[in-house]
Amino acid sequence: MIERYTEPPVLVAGNSVTRSFPNGTTALAEASFEIRAGEFVSFVGPSGCGKSTMLRMVAGLDVPTSGSVERGEGEIGYVFQDATLLPWRTALGNVLLPLRLAGTKKAEAEERARAALEVVG
Ligand SMILES: Nc1ncnc2c1ncn2[C@@H]1O[C@H](COP(=O)(O)OP(=O)(O)OP(=O)(O)O)[C@@H](O)[C@H]1O
Ligand SMILES: [Mg+2]
Repeated sequence: MIERYTEPPVLVAGNSVTRSFPNGTTALAEASFEIRAGEFVSFVGPSGCGKSTMLRMVAGLDVPTSGSVERGEGEIGYVFQDATLLPWRTALGNVLLPLRLAGTKKAEAEERARAALEVVG
C-alpha cells in the first residue's frame, strides 16, 4: 500500500503584509507566513518590530495597508498585550463577557466563567 503524506490545511496566512500608520510609521513591511493546523507558532522579535500589529490583523481588529491576511474556518481567541478590563464590571462580569457577546446563554456563561476563575484562583 502506498501512503501519501498530505500537509495539514493552512489556517492563517499573511501575504506580503504591510501596515503603515497615518503618522508615517511602517510597523510591518511585506511580511509573509503560513500557519497550518496543529502547528504551534511564535512571533519573536525586538520591541516595536510589529508582532502585536500582525496579531491584531490576524484577529480581524485591523487591516493591512497592502497585502492580505487570510483565515480559514474556525474561531480565533485573542489575549491583549495589556489588560483590557471593564472597570465597572465585576471580575466574573469581565470573564463572562466574551461568551455573552458570542451568544452563550447567561446561566451557561456564568457557570463557565466561574469555572475559569476557579482555575486561576
Ligand atoms: N496606532 C499606531 N499608530 C502609530 N504607530 C503605531 C501604532 N501602533 C503601533 N505603532 C508602531 O508600530 C511599531 C510596531 O508596534 P507593535 O506594537 O506591533 O510592536 P511589538 O512587536 O508588538 O512590540 P512589543 O514587543 O513592545 O509589544 C512600533 O514602532 C509602534 O510604535
Ligand atoms: Mg506587542
